Amino acid sequence: MKILAIDTSADETSVAVTEGRRVLSNVIYSQALLHKKWGGIYPALAKRAHEERIDSVIQAVSKKLVHPMGVLASIDTVAVTNGPGLAVALEVGIGKAKELAQKYKKKLIAVNHLEGHIYSSFVQNSQGNPKKEFEFPYLALVISGGHTEIVLFKNHVTYQVLGETIDDAAGEALDKAAKLLGLGYPGGPVIERLSKEAGNFDFYHFPRPMLKSKDLNFSFSGLKTAFYYFIKDLKSEEKNKKIKELVSSFQEAVFATVIFKTEKAIKQTGINKLVVGGGVIANLYLRKKFRALAKKYKGDVYFPPYQYLTGDNAAMIGVAAYYKAQKKLFVSDPAKLDRVPRLSLVDNELKSL
Ligand code: KG4
Ligand code: ZN
Repeated sequence: MKILAIDTSADETSVAVTEGRRVLSNVIYSQALLHKKWGGIYPALAKRAHEERIDSVIQAVSKKLVHPMGVLASIDTVAVTNGPGLAVALEVGIGKAKELAQKYKKKLIAVNHLEGHIYSSFVQNSQGNPKKEFEFPYLALVISGGHTEIVLFKNHVTYQVLGETIDDAAGEALDKAAKLLGLGYPGGPVIERLSKEAGNFDFYHFPRPMLKSKDLNFSFSGLKTAFYYFIKDLKSEEKNKKIKELVSSFQEAVFATVIFKTEKAIKQTGINKLVVGGGVIANLYLRKKFRALAKKYKGDVYFPPYQYLTGDNAAMIGVAAYYKAQKKLFVSDPAKLDRVPRLSLVDNELKSL
């Protein structure tokens, strides 16, 4: 079963063709450069860029899959992210998916962007590697620019959200810290590099929010505010001199919080198999921390096997859609499919019951 998947939830226009867990073709057009000077995603620009690019991204995917009748002739189903994400951006992908499904008489599957990130650790290349099988249940983490979630991944397409951020996401916190220091957008990669140069050391010990709370929720806005006031009091030359120490300490506060809450979730659920997805898990230092945590509990941790699968991509949407198709979770009335900017995994779970 071949699926053409589309994701336009934020600032990447991505289209993929997948078959089961295998990715036959995946193209990502990133708008990051466009949004750089705003220090975050600028909605009107994102919408226009998606509209301008979507057809050529579909064409680029098709080129890699030679089929005499064109790519749409060879696929069985169209899948699209219907939320969560930026409304004006989601709309573009949904509109295109509906158009294609109708024109070529294909079934349509709506995928929650978060379930895409959860499945990203199980995506295979076109050769079917890596081969690792599913061994439910897992504790799944999504750590991205828009989300910080701990999810009980019970079985295919069956989730229970155990904790999530009540304000900023982990990646968003990194992006905001980088913006305050004039380091550009996105902040995660540059903070990773500078922190490594500083030895990934915690020089300033910024506050770790919510560690005392009993639940598994996160909050990063207090840390961001503490950081803001801390650097506001520094002279600009001192700030520049200490930039590596500053970002390294900030990164440590974010990551220590994520690991602390994950450990709490392991203790509460007794589950020691982790899957971690989302843009922030591109960070090798965070991967190391997760590996150490899994080892401490004699468990395992899985990450997206290829770098492009950490950030937003349509391949993970296609793979999640495959498991939805197995459960016959097709959109019953494609004309009515609409974006749900605040779609949660709970909504999704109800639909799958
Ligand atoms: O998953 P993603 O591409 O988009 C969302 O769904 O949000 O995640 C983007 C986030 C940004 O906040 C970016 O700064 C962060 O992932 N990120 C990183 C790294 N690469 C990207 N954070 C830490 N270290 C990295 N190497
Ligand atoms: Zn994402």
